[in-house]
Amino acid sequence: MWSLGDYQTFAAQLVWELGPVLVQAAGVRPGQRVLDIATGTGNAALRAAEAGASVVASDLTPEHFVAGHEVARDKGLALEWVEADAENLPFAGAAFDIVLSCLGAIFAPRHQRVADEMVRVCKQRGTIAMLNFTPEGLAAAFFEVFAPYMPPPRAGDLPPILWGSEDHVARLFGKRLALRTTRGSYVERARSPQAYVDFFKRTFGPVVAIYQSLADTPQLVAELDRAFLKFAENSNTSAPGEPAEYRYEYLLVIGEKL
Ligand SMILES: C[S@@+](CC[C@H](N)C(=O)[O-])C[C@H]1O[C@@H](n2cnc3c(N)ncnc32)[C@H](O)[C@@H]1O
Repeated sequence: MWSLGDYQTFAAQLVWELGPVLVQAAGVRPGQRVLDIATGTGNAALRAAEAGASVVASDLTPEHFVAGHEVARDKGLALEWVEADAENLPFAGAAFDIVLSCLGAIFAPRHQRVADEMVRVCKQRGTIAMLNFTPEGLAAAFFEVFAPYMPPPRAGDLPPILWGSEDHVARLFGKRLALRTTRGSYVERARSPQAYVDFFKRTFGPVVAIYQSLADTPQLVAELDRAFLKFAENSNTSAPGEPAEYRYEYLLVIGEKL
């Protein structure tokens, strides 16, 4: 699902500013060993490498690594790219000084497994840093648009936006981390609400996948088109006549492994 569309075009246009936010908040320093989980095309990983760290960029979808390689080559950066499921990481315990995930590990449905894996691969006194959508922010409304058109979740699977709840994150990591959390926001922009919808339909894998699954039912495609455009019109916060703007809230999670 994530390999559909054009993730690098999507990320570069809408979320590329968030990698540096996470890398700076995590305090990445030269020489540190850093893991970026669900790296996509390397949003946080590339910035950690620019900061002088030795970086492993991992993701369930290795198709994304092609674009990541290109950016790294253009910038003269060397990273290791490893296919990996956030729920079952193929790395030794305590292998990393810093474990990052930018709007990424939240999409693995078994949250406790992800938290346990992040803690396992992080060194003692090391840092776990995540940037997660919040349940109160615009991402929740975005996911609600698509929920009726997706297969029901498996028993025990949890939705990504729960990772933006301070209480949920505290429960997942328990007493294993000293946690600091802060909320922030960023803005996604498009020429118009319709352009925003069209951009997601062309570039964002999960949205492309949902539309593909409806290809034989044109009335459902039309219904989803209307719901998606309504979301894009109602959530646009720009002044009339200006390009469309969408403000998404995130929870920045920084934890020191005790
Ligand atoms: C919204 S993208 C974020 C990518 C990147 N961190 C960024 O900031 O652009 C979500 C990423 O999570 C990855 N992903 C989804 N489920 C995963 C899992 N179980 N394990 C590892 N990666 C996963 C997808 O392949 C995708 O690259």
